[in-house]
Amino acid sequence: MLRDVSLGKCCMICFAVFCLVFAAQLEAVTLCSDVGKYHHIDRRSVFQFKHNASERQLRMGAEKPSIVNDERDAPRTRPQLRSSKNSNVAFDPTKYACGDPSMTECVNKTQVFKARVLSEFRRILKESFEENNYYRVHYNKPIFDGESELCRLKRADVRTLSWRDPPFNWNEIGSYFPLNPLFKERNASCAVIASAGSLKGSRLGDFIDDHDVVMRFNHAPTKGFEVDVGSKTTVRVVNSQVVTKKEFKLLTAKHFRHVSIAAWDPGKFDQSLEEWIKSPDFNLFENFKKYREKYPGSNFHLVDPRSIWRAWTALQDKTHTKIMRNPPTSGFIGLGLLIPACRYIDMIEYIPSSRMNGLCHYYDSEINSACTFGSWHPLAAEKLYVLQMNTADEFTTFQRGVVRISLDSNSGC
Ligand SMILES: *[C@@H]1O[C@H](CO)[C@@H](O)[C@H](O)[C@H]1NC(C)=O
Ligand SMILES: *[C@@H]1O[C@H](CO)[C@@H](O)[C@H](O)[C@H]1NC(C)=O
Ligand SMILES: *[C@@H]1O[C@H](CO)[C@@H](O)[C@H](O)[C@H]1NC(C)=O
Repeated sequence: MLRDVSLGKCCMICFAVFCLVFAAQLEAVTLCSDVGKYHHIDRRSVFQFKHNASERQLRMGAEKPSIVNDERDAPRTRPQLRSSKNSNVAFDPTKYACGDPSMTECVNKTQVFKARVLSEFRRILKESFEENNYYRVHYNKPIFDGESELCRLKRADVRTLSWRDPPFNWNEIGSYFPLNPLFKERNASCAVIASAGSLKGSRLGDFIDDHDVVMRFNHAPTKGFEVDVGSKTTVRVVNSQVVTKKEFKLLTAKHFRHVSIAAWDPGKFDQSLEEWIKSPDFNLFENFKKYREKYPGSNFHLVDPRSIWRAWTALQDKTHTKIMRNPPTSGFIGLGLLIPACRYIDMIEYIPSSRMNGLCHYYDSEINSACTFGSWHPLAAEKLYVLQMNTADEFTTFQRGVVRISLDSNSGC
């Protein structure tokens, strides 16, 4: 059962589409008491706002981002979709969307939307769930808990494996590892592009392409969606199902060429690398070797599965309820991988914006009931964790769909 909905389906779906879960939701919007808990962070817009109706897309400059607030970006142009079969409430993307942060009504809408989103995350965190602990996770609450979310995630040290890591320093698989690291960059501007359906109509393409490093997930396309999602891809994070299964065409598809790739497979919690090699969740090693053989100049890495579980542990450390004992999403793993390379990381539609429309992904029209059960990954915990690190203001976050994580030296860890 678990295997059926395992990584591929879930990562692709859950990561994108928390949306439908919200759709099922409640009129009771309460501002939770710890909504503003993070007041020590100075939150600001990542854009500069000006009105210019002839500009087609939102833009940012290198350090002083600018944005053009386009009238055509109005809610009525966005797809109106009925929510999933499993949800009783149709979600209406026109209800909370607005384009002018200087208007009181827009501030109000943003506030109400934010409260609704956060209360939904928190509701899901408190929900009980059944699980069989397939990954043999065990956990002890740490005694010390004073670290910020950012410092805690840094300490998790999400990383790719190196040919120097035993047993890869002598085994056959290790001989296929690239010599270069996944990222040569330090101090880069970075963007993480979720595959969410609510990217549709965002017009964030130029904004995204202005980043030095642009990370996408699995087989998420850019062709045909450039205005909203950009055309640049520097790195893809893919799960082991995408590496393994024929339909994803790892060895031949264009979107897997001329980009760095970080593939992950969770193995089991606390498993040694030797054990992992013998029993990965999906046997990604064969296609990894084939790809590296076919494209010797490629920059294809494997994520250290132990570091995936360290990220899970960081998540659980910072979450006050018990989270699913399943690996984090590709989005959260990608975020961890980027930390050493970036001066800031913009996560696009990782936190759902007011464009939330019920679509699973921006690139298909799937309204899948599986999307409604976004509970395979510890998703709500991840999103609340990311919001704690957010330095972007509320309009940027909940209307534009951009969360910024600043990694400058004064982050204090
Ligand atoms: C608006 O954008 C267009 C196209 O980029 C540009 O040519 C024009 O100068 C801009 N107008 C203002 C007032 O910034
Ligand atoms: C803002 O929202 C509150 C309640 O949610 C409402 O009473 C108030 O009239 C709203 N203000 C504006 C300007 O829409
Ligand atoms: C990082 O880049 C920014 C912007 O280019 C620059 O101002 C800053 O000095 C750089 N920091 C380091 C440590 O190189």
